[in-house]
Amino acid sequence: MAMVQELISSQAIQSKVSELAGQIRRDYLGQSLLVVGILKGAFVFTADLVRALGDMEMEVDFMAVSSYGTATETSGTVRILKDLDTPVAGRHVLLVEDILDTGLTLRYLRDYLSRQGPLSLRVCVLLDKPSRRKVEAGAEYVGFTIPDQFVVGYGIDWAERYRNLPFVGVVQE
Ligand code: IMP
Ligand code: MG
Repeated sequence: MAMVQELISSQAIQSKVSELAGQIRRDYLGQSLLVVGILKGAFVFTADLVRALGDMEMEVDFMAVSSYGTATETSGTVRILKDLDTPVAGRHVLLVEDILDTGLTLRYLRDYLSRQGPLSLRVCVLLDKPSRRKVEAGAEYVGFTIPDQFVVGYGIDWAERYRNLPFVGVVQE
């Protein structure tokens, strides 16, 4: 396994997750949420976030999308590999994604879910790379803003590897 240089420590991620969860709990006070994790990259973040949300009333569902032609370059097209099991109409939907990069994936998912008539739709991303944006896309909840570096760990892969790392880091080549 190649060396991975730590960029965001496990402790820093955990305290950010608590902070985001606190904000989300306040914003959705007394409401029931449909949390939608985007596979595979957001599986660890989604798991930690919903536990940090504590006793909030919610359902959790997942979508799987593929947006990358190769390991590190976007193909510009988004394919839905697994759709939701839960109807979105009339629900407060919180989309949970690992990284906001070019914005193509979130742009597509927002449009796709909006058309299904949710009561509200917000996005929570762990990482934002604003310098890479190709289309207008933003998130209501952002964990960390990072420079244009290819990162791995905490669910995020490089050619399906490194998802298991507890921190976010950069592969040393
Ligand atoms: P976007 O459509 O370009 O915004 O791409 C978002 C998706 O690209 C993320 O959900 C990740 O799966 C992937 N991605 C973007 N940057 C990285 C990275 O640095 N490492 C691993 N995957 C990335
Ligand atoms: Mg990926």
